[in-house]
Amino acid sequence: MRMVAVLAVAALLGVSACGSGGDDEPPGPGTVEVFTWWAEGGEKAGLDALVARFAADCPGQRFENGAVAGGAGVNAKQELTRRIARRDPPDTFQAHAGAELTDYIDAGQVQDLTAYYDAWGLRAAFPAGLVDDLTVHGKIYSVPANIHRANVVWTNPAVLARAGLAATPPKDLRAFLGDLAKLRAAGVEAPLALGRDWTQLMLLEAVLISDLGAGGFAGLFTGETAWTGAPVTRAVGDFARLLSFGNADRDSLDWPQAERLLIDGKAGYQLMGDWEAADLAAKGLAGYGWFTFPGNGGTFQWLADAFTMATGTLNLTGTECWLKTVGSAAGQRDFNAAKGSIPARTDVPSTGFSPYQQSAMADWKSATQVPSCAHGSACSQPWQNAINAALTAYATRRDTRALQADLALAADQFIRR
Ligand code: BGC
Repeated sequence: MRMVAVLAVAALLGVSACGSGGDDEPPGPGTVEVFTWWAEGGEKAGLDALVARFAADCPGQRFENGAVAGGAGVNAKQELTRRIARRDPPDTFQAHAGAELTDYIDAGQVQDLTAYYDAWGLRAAFPAGLVDDLTVHGKIYSVPANIHRANVVWTNPAVLARAGLAATPPKDLRAFLGDLAKLRAAGVEAPLALGRDWTQLMLLEAVLISDLGAGGFAGLFTGETAWTGAPVTRAVGDFARLLSFGNADRDSLDWPQAERLLIDGKAGYQLMGDWEAADLAAKGLAGYGWFTFPGNGGTFQWLADAFTMATGTLNLTGTECWLKTVGSAAGQRDFNAAKGSIPARTDVPSTGFSPYQQSAMADWKSATQVPSCAHGSACSQPWQNAINAALTAYATRRDTRALQADLALAADQFIRR
């Protein structure tokens, strides 16, 4: 479908076009291709809610779904790179606020949206800190749809109860390791549900927050904290201990497959971002439990899904209307209620959100905020790729010293100074 659109516009402009086709029917001038990795479960439910709002707010415009499945965008980001390289970008694509977005800005792949921020009153609608994080050389290139929290442990309360574990969450990492051992002793072979590289990076980051504190953790991505120090050595050791309580096939599972272990009662816990809240509800574990990762105290590890206007968008009016919907109070209410995240806007009432989301809304206001590398707010895409490769290497080598050395090397190579 995109090919046809590119050719139609190219014919009008009298220029040659390249790209590859896909769908069956040609888009009208009012088609907006929205590129995400929200293809099923709670993620799809969130997207559907946003699309319904878009349909109501943007008459004459049609949504075209460019989603590419795969948690954290592992496949989508690669496909996006290919499409941009062959000058066939979607009209708008999902990117993480912070360092990851800066990669696209530096490459000239997204357009400046600063004027829309002024026209739509978005500066005052979002927290000042978030607007700062989105601003690069005085300009803003994306509209955040939400705030997700990364450092949350989800539980299957029935599994914990069968092993006689108290409903109160473990107070620190030691206590958590103790509870994992109790679950295993009670016959739960893999008490902690684990998935592939980036999900392990999330676990490592949560452990680093526990062992280094919020400030020490944030400093790992600014150059203020050394990756070679003893606190990181301790954290890598704790991370390895946690992995030993997981499922052996972890490297081949995406997050929903690891989550399945929790839903089916084969695991008691899973560390995952709060897209899991919506997904557990969508997949039948509405009675899930949750707590902040043990030892993370009052730290809220955040990330934000933001939408861009791609350089070379074919439908300017429709893309503008999509972005306006994303940034609107009604759009943020409908989308986030279904997605598990909380609105980035500060003026959306908490009514209609789940008990988990209401607790996240309160924490977002009071907790210390730190960014996430696995989800692009703390580190660039190449840096994230290097850490994921280090974790994949660890899976076969099982050498914590080598893992720490690889992490330090990645930081040296990719830190923006
Ligand atoms: C995105 C979320 C998404 C999650 C799992 C994260 O990188 O920010 O919106 O639900 O990946 O796919």
